[in-house]
Amino acid sequence: MFAPLIFILLFQLTHGQQLIYLNTLKGDNIENGINQTAPCSLFVSAQADADELLARIFVKTSDNLTMSLQDLKNAKEDENSGFLTPFSVTSTASLISNLTDEQLESLKGFIYVTSSEQANDKNFRVYDVDRFSIIETEHSGNYTLVFLSTNFETNPAHSSTISHWQQQNDSVVNIYRGIPGDRRRIYQWQLFSNPIVWDPQRGDSKM
Ligand SMILES: *[C@@H]1O[C@H](CO)[C@@H](O)[C@H](O)[C@H]1NC(C)=O
Ligand SMILES: *[C@@H]1O[C@H](CO)[C@@H](O)[C@H](O)[C@H]1NC(C)=O
Ligand SMILES: *[C@@H]1O[C@H](CO)[C@@H](O)[C@H](O)[C@H]1NC(C)=O
Ligand SMILES: *[C@@H]1O[C@H](CO)[C@@H](O)[C@H](O)[C@H]1NC(C)=O
Ligand SMILES: *[C@@H]1O[C@H](CO)[C@@H](O)[C@H](O)[C@H]1NC(C)=O
Repeated sequence: MFAPLIFILLFQLTHGQQLIYLNTLKGDNIENGINQTAPCSLFVSAQADADELLARIFVKTSDNLTMSLQDLKNAKEDENSGFLTPFSVTSTASLISNLTDEQLESLKGFIYVTSSEQANDKNFRVYDVDRFSIIETEHSGNYTLVFLSTNFETNPAHSSTISHWQQQNDSVVNIYRGIPGDRRRIYQWQLFSNPIVWDPQRGDSKM
């Protein structure tokens, strides 16, 4: 009875990226295991949540690295950038908080957990869209830039504006909705691309 159960649990480790919503966590110092294959990186977006509450939620790795979600949320390269510093997990990690379940349920933020491929890619970058930011890619090569937003104040919520777009004439930029997963699958489903690609199979001539 028990052997097959353990077998299934082992394979519940997620290989792809995932979002963990803070309102799904258990409080009262219960360990919430992060079911992700290492290595992975963690990023927090929680603009609407009070720092006092986030300071009472911790991510803890099995090699004893600990950081509060307040620190993770504010792990910006500099004040003028939403560029987030990754929290690297090379072992297993869990989330633990002395808040109550009710306090946790009131939170609106989330944790973005990358896949191993994304964690190992130095051209994979995550930004929290909570301020004006200059976004630059300084080397040639392919980049994946992820923009997280938990800003509910804008109308519609989570909206932002890109301006002063500059791009080399031999480069290609695609913008996707959602979180980046299997590249082969999502590359056909961009919201916007430059140069513009018209896909007759999708028949979206109105775009
Ligand atoms: C990890 O998996 C366990 C068992 O499936 C589940 O109870 C727990 O909520 C998961 N943790 C997270 C952070 O999703
Ligand atoms: C909860 O954890 C925080 C951070 O470790 C600590 O400062 C605070 O005293 C704790 N509160 C309670 C009620 O245990
Ligand atoms: C982590 O901390 C625990 C408890 O303090 C200790 O028993 C364990 O040896 C530590 N592990 C590492 C890898 O430092
Ligand atoms: C960038 O991606 C394109 C399309 O997948 C590929 O053809 C090209 O070789 C990649 N360039 C580098 C430097 O990885
Ligand atoms: C692209 O830009 C380079 C220099 O900036 C220029 O020499 C080249 O002719 C341009 N190519 C096209 C197709 O416009």
